[in-house]
Amino acid sequence: MRRPYIAGNWKMWGTRAQAAEYCDRLLELLPDEGRRPADVGVCVPFTALDVCVERLRGSGVVVAAQNMHFAANGAYTGEVSPAMLTELHVMGVVLGHSERREYYCEQDRALQEKVAAALAAGLQPILCVGETEEEREHGKTERKLRHQVQEGLEKVDRERLADVVIAYEPVWAIGTGRVATPEQAQEAISFVRALVGDRSRDAEERVRVLYGGSVKPDNAAEILAQPDVDGALVGGASLDPEDFARIVAAAAS
Ligand code: 13P
Repeated sequence: MRRPYIAGNWKMWGTRAQAAEYCDRLLELLPDEGRRPADVGVCVPFTALDVCVERLRGSGVVVAAQNMHFAANGAYTGEVSPAMLTELHVMGVVLGHSERREYYCEQDRALQEKVAAALAAGLQPILCVGETEEEREHGKTERKLRHQVQEGLEKVDRERLADVVIAYEPVWAIGTGRVATPEQAQEAISFVRALVGDRSRDAEERVRVLYGGSVKPDNAAEILAQPDVDGALVGGASLDPEDFARIVAAAAS
């Protein structure tokens, strides 16, 4: 059985003071680690990582970054390396979020390197994929997902495929309030899972594929109930610890 994973992507939210307050509140709201229905993570800005690591220490809540360079070091102004994250005891990293692809020219080629570098450093990558509205309307959803998944996992050894978390985030559902229907989420995510299965049958069974895009406390349960949906990557609703904790609770279904 795959254990559900509910991760909050704060995007560009959270000063260090806000992060500290958030973490304390979240721990008040979450059941103890052994009684949680899902793994829980927060994906936070670089500047808040150490605060979150410290506040969440021993709680089982995963702290992840939102981007990373693949190189160990070098002339890459403004970038952060894998070792800079692991030194802070960060455990994961979001890679290829559609906002980074769209606004910062994140390319599949660089993502290949990033996913492999994250695994090599002991960080759990959350690889984001998803089609635009136009691609969906033109029947190009599967083509887009195939391309992004195959490219993103290209440099990952078969034995490590299941260590990658994949987040299916249709671009048209992100920040729009237009959540995918449970059927749309299930269809796309089972397709993503089958793509992993083309590389490894074992990984197909074990890899966790999350849904992201306008997940809220009142729509989470029916999406999370889909057989191939292994959790959620939550943007806006994760900024309120109460709402986020309710989404975690919805994983119990
Ligand atoms: P929203 O939940 O705000 O739609 O954002 C989804 C997302 O992009 C998570 O990475």
